[in-house]
Amino acid sequence: MTETITAPATGVREALYSRRSIRAFTDAPVADATLRELLTDAARAPSGGNLQPWSAYVLNGAATDAFRARIREAMKKHPFGEPPEYPVYPEDLPDPFRSRRRDIGELLYGTLGIPREDKAARLTQFARNFEFFGAPAAVFFAVERIMNVNQWAHLGMFQQSFMLAARERGLHTCPQEAWAIWHREVAAFCDIPDSQMLHCGIAVGHADPEAAVNHMQSPRAGLDDFVHFVAQDS
Ligand SMILES: Cc1cc2nc3c(=O)[nH]c(=O)nc-3n(C[C@H](O)[C@H](O)[C@H](O)COP(=O)(O)O)c2cc1C
Repeated sequence: MTETITAPATGVREALYSRRSIRAFTDAPVADATLRELLTDAARAPSGGNLQPWSAYVLNGAATDAFRARIREAMKKHPFGEPPEYPVYPEDLPDPFRSRRRDIGELLYGTLGIPREDKAARLTQFARNFEFFGAPAAVFFAVERIMNVNQWAHLGMFQQSFMLAARERGLHTCPQEAWAIWHREVAAFCDIPDSQMLHCGIAVGHADPEAAVNHMQSPRAGLDDFVHFVAQDS
């Protein structure tokens, strides 16, 4: 069962409902100062013990272009990237998660007009991740290796805060775990210390309003599928 998403209101709800993963950006630039503001806002995210276990590495303009060029070269030698440092998905994903993952893939490739059997076109689309979908800026998010699953959750709060703050400034984002297969290249380019592990990148920029892929609305499970109001006598 999926929930129909209702019209957005204002404020945080507007940001929540207008955020979506954008997979076609224009080349309109984003100022360094704006990225600083977004990260300042995002750092208001809570974290247990106020550890603030996150680090962010910002690419903008020429640095983004240089990194794209580096990855293009790396892909010639290693088309499938590097073994990820963390398991991006559990092995043998059970339902309903498996179906949700399959369904969003079908929706994405359907929107792009790429048929299931066209593996080459699907791979080409996947590789667009490594161009940041054309975004002029991106932020890589890393967490101290000594941290555990609890602090990784706090990193997620920082990232969502960042994406919502971007909406208030008319910017859009795409979170990208795909970068897990290029963690060494990312670490080398951004000078990420060994004490930290890359989680993902988030592309940042202006959405191309002409691109159909940007109008794709991802579904959500209905509330009854994941919310449990617990009765007093249970
Ligand atoms: C941590 C994280 C990593 C993701 N990695 C990718 C990615 O590598 N490439 C991509 O196209 N989308 C990626 N997504 C986007 C998800 O597919 C998307 O959030 C989901 O389908 C819901 O759609 P929405 O973001 O438009 O609401 C990622 C999302 C998150 C939160």
